[in-house]
Amino acid sequence: MVLMPIARYPRVAVVLHWTVALLVIALLVSGSYMVGIPRNTPERAFFFNLHKSLGILTALFIVALIIWRLRQEGPPLPGGMPRWERMAAVLNHRLFYVFMVLMTAAGYLTSSFSKFGPKLFGVPLPHWGWEDTALRGEFAAIHRVAALAFAALIALHIAAALKHLVWDKDGVFERMMPGTLEDTQRYFGKFVEQKQRLVPGLRRPPRHD
Ligand code: HEM
Repeated sequence: MVLMPIARYPRVAVVLHWTVALLVIALLVSGSYMVGIPRNTPERAFFFNLHKSLGILTALFIVALIIWRLRQEGPPLPGGMPRWERMAAVLNHRLFYVFMVLMTAAGYLTSSFSKFGPKLFGVPLPHWGWEDTALRGEFAAIHRVAALAFAALIALHIAAALKHLVWDKDGVFERMMPGTLEDTQRYFGKFVEQKQRLVPGLRRPPRHD
């Protein structure tokens, strides 16, 4: 059988993708948990401070991811992919960027209009506002609704990735996996019979505009 070549993501993109993915999942879990903790308790203060710190750390990785993405196009999708699926993938990825920016901005603004303020591992950061319960509530509501929509988008993204692994067997899942291709095949290979082969070097040239 002749295997069609499919381009991998470069290592820097794989590292940024998985770092942001793990941090965002930690933020969704910690955020959902902490809002249920009784007010004025040390546990609530601990989780709020942890969540804010992780959120600000995530923002730095998101900026790095956006800079990488603006300078470098992702590797092309496999030739045989239907048009609707290509459009859905592009839309899903663009919405990810929208939600990553919206979530961090709304979170930072929620903190900025509260008396506690944004903090990075205990170090107070600039307030973008003043103490205002009504505005804090507005930004918290935006943060909450966006978190629900973001979680739905992430679920769709994971389902699509698994469809590529189990059903399409076209290498799209494998090209964003950390480690070598042999590592990926070691963990997932028994479930898949590749119709395509991953090519490390094949990717679009960087943008210079
Ligand atoms: C991708 C980044 C982020 C995600 C996915 C995320 C996720 C969440 C979630 C799921 C909640 C619970 C919402 C609810 O059920 O009410 C929450 C609450 C909260 N987040 Fe984030 N967050 C992010 C970034 C940030 C940042 C950067 C800050 C501040 C520096 C922040 C501050 C807060 C605060 C203060 C709350 C509590 C809101 C309230 O009192 O209702 N978040 N976050």
